[in-house]
Amino acid sequence: MRKHIVAGNWKMNNDLAQTQALISDLKKQKQTSSAEVMIAPAFTNLWSAFESLRQNSIEVVAQNMHFAANGAYTGEVSAAMLKSIGVSTVILGHSERRAYFNETDELLAKKVDAALANDMRVIFCFGEELADRKSGAQEQVVESQIKNALFHLDASAFEQIVLAYEPVWAIGTGETASPEQAQDMHAFIRKTLNDTYGSAVADEVSILYGGSVKPDNAKEIFSKPDVDGGLIGGASLKAEDFFAIVNAF
Ligand code: G3P
Repeated sequence: MRKHIVAGNWKMNNDLAQTQALISDLKKQKQTSSAEVMIAPAFTNLWSAFESLRQNSIEVVAQNMHFAANGAYTGEVSAAMLKSIGVSTVILGHSERRAYFNETDELLAKKVDAALANDMRVIFCFGEELADRKSGAQEQVVESQIKNALFHLDASAFEQIVLAYEPVWAIGTGETASPEQAQDMHAFIRKTLNDTYGSAVADEVSILYGGSVKPDNAKEIFSKPDVDGGLIGGASLKAEDFFAIVNAF
C-alpha cells in the first residue's frame, strides 16, 4: 500500500556508542507527519538499534544481504540472520554497492527473491549516472534496472517492495535533482509499472527519492504527486535534520 516513507541510510558511519547516541537523539525528536520512519545502521549495530527502538515506531533496516540461505560466503549476512535480530526490511541495489561491489541486475534479482522468500520488505534502489542524464538516456537506464531485477515477480510481490530512485549524480554531492526532475522520473517509473502490471501495482507502490535530500529541499520534493518520501544519506546522521525531513510532508 502506497505510504509516505522516510528512511535514513547511515552507510558506513557510527560505531556502537555513536549509534546509541544518535538513537537517543532520534527518540527526543517530535514527529508531526504520518510518515513511516526507518533507519539503516551498519550490520554491527543492527541488534543494538533494534533493542533500543523496540518501544518506538522507528523501524530498523539492513543496508544489504546475501541471496544464499547460508554457506561459504565469508563476510556475508543472510536474510534469516537479519530476521533473527528483528530486521524485516532490507535496502538492495544501492548505487554504491553496484559500483564498488559489482552488483548486477541479475545478482540483485536473486537478492530480491531471497528477501521476499523470507517475508522481508525490500527498498530497491536504482538510478542513472551523470553521463546517462547528460545523454538523455536516464529513462532507458532506469527502466532496464527495474525490469531486469524486478519484472520477473508476480504482481503480489510488489506489496513488499518500496522503490528508491537515486540519481547517482545527486548522491552525496549536494547536487539534488530538481523536484521536477524527480517527479518526471517517478511518473515514468509508475507508468512503466502500470504498462506491465496495471494500476493495482502502479498506484500502490511507494517510490522514494534519494540524493542530497536536506531539510531545506525536502518539502518541495515530497510535494510532488509521484514522490512518496525519501532515502536519506548524510542528513540522516543528525537527528534534528533527519526529523526536519520526516516532518516535511
Ligand atoms: O541511500 C541514500 C543515499 O544514497 C543518499 O545520500 O547523502 O545524498 O542524502 P545523500
